[in-house]
Amino acid sequence: MSSNGDYSFHDFKPGREDMAAEVLRGITGVQKYISPKFFYDEKGSVLFEQITTLPEYYLTRTEMALFDAKLPEISSFLPADLCVIEYGSGSSLKIRKLLQGLTPQAYVPVDISDEHLQQNARLLHADFSDLNVYPVCADFTHQFQLPEAVQPLQKFAFFPGSSIGNFEPEAARGFLINVREAVEYGGFLLIGVDRKKARQVLEAAYDDASGITAAFNLNVLSHLNTELNSNFDLNGFEHVASYDADAGCICMFLRSLVDQDVQIAGEKVSFSAGEHIHTENSYKYHPQEFIDLAASAGFEEVARYTDVDDQFGLYLLRGR
Ligand code: AVI
Repeated sequence: MSSNGDYSFHDFKPGREDMAAEVLRGITGVQKYISPKFFYDEKGSVLFEQITTLPEYYLTRTEMALFDAKLPEISSFLPADLCVIEYGSGSSLKIRKLLQGLTPQAYVPVDISDEHLQQNARLLHADFSDLNVYPVCADFTHQFQLPEAVQPLQKFAFFPGSSIGNFEPEAARGFLINVREAVEYGGFLLIGVDRKKARQVLEAAYDDASGITAAFNLNVLSHLNTELNSNFDLNGFEHVASYDADAGCICMFLRSLVDQDVQIAGEKVSFSAGEHIHTENSYKYHPQEFIDLAASAGFEEVARYTDVDDQFGLYLLRGR
């Protein structure tokens, strides 16, 4: 580790796709759809943080406990000249645990939000002053270039939180292939993946008693009202989360309570009572199912971990 950590910013942010065009394309399809990426305005990010502390949302606390218990063993599989690449740099508590546990030489947070990225990188740099931090502003669902300075180091990708579940399975495979390219032969991926389980447990996790997930889902409409000058009435929709056991997926929707017309970016869009807007899928994987998916993307299993209740999986994989 160098005595004086380096901190330089790499901007590969793609041209901003027109939000209005994207929303209109989704909301006028046969199955009306709003992308979950629009959940995360300021209020949506706060609501998501609240979700992660809900009693019903076991994912975050279970994954954190696995980090606490397993990081020493994970670290024993790794070389000293390590560069951690974090896909999406939102989870500052998790990355702090990881950086403390693995003591890498360099850290590359990759995120689409340059503001978020630079702020988090500055905070981390202040607390881990020996660490070389190279924030990369990019859409990590596409390939991007790693900073020159980290090329000689062994790559270790980090993708916690079961965010892989928000990709459709074929897109998840495509993402894993990109990660495999980035870490190269012999490089690592540590990934948290939620497991299939009883419907009641899953549906409660995505429709909690205190209504935070409902507020998070509905907030996407107020985000569109602000950004696209639309006039969704949040009282005219309700939150729905249901588990499709065949697909192994929690599906979130907003159901229109009445027949209604909404102006969105200058267009009138009609909703009939009972009609659903699809807002998110969250796929769950049996451990072997996930290992097979990762193998099809060029990874082999080094270790797999789970909690005593078999709720959540943490996988250490190596590029082959
Ligand atoms: C970000 N992602 C992994 C969460 C999930 O569990 O799929 C998003 C979420 N949606 C509702 N609750 C949490």
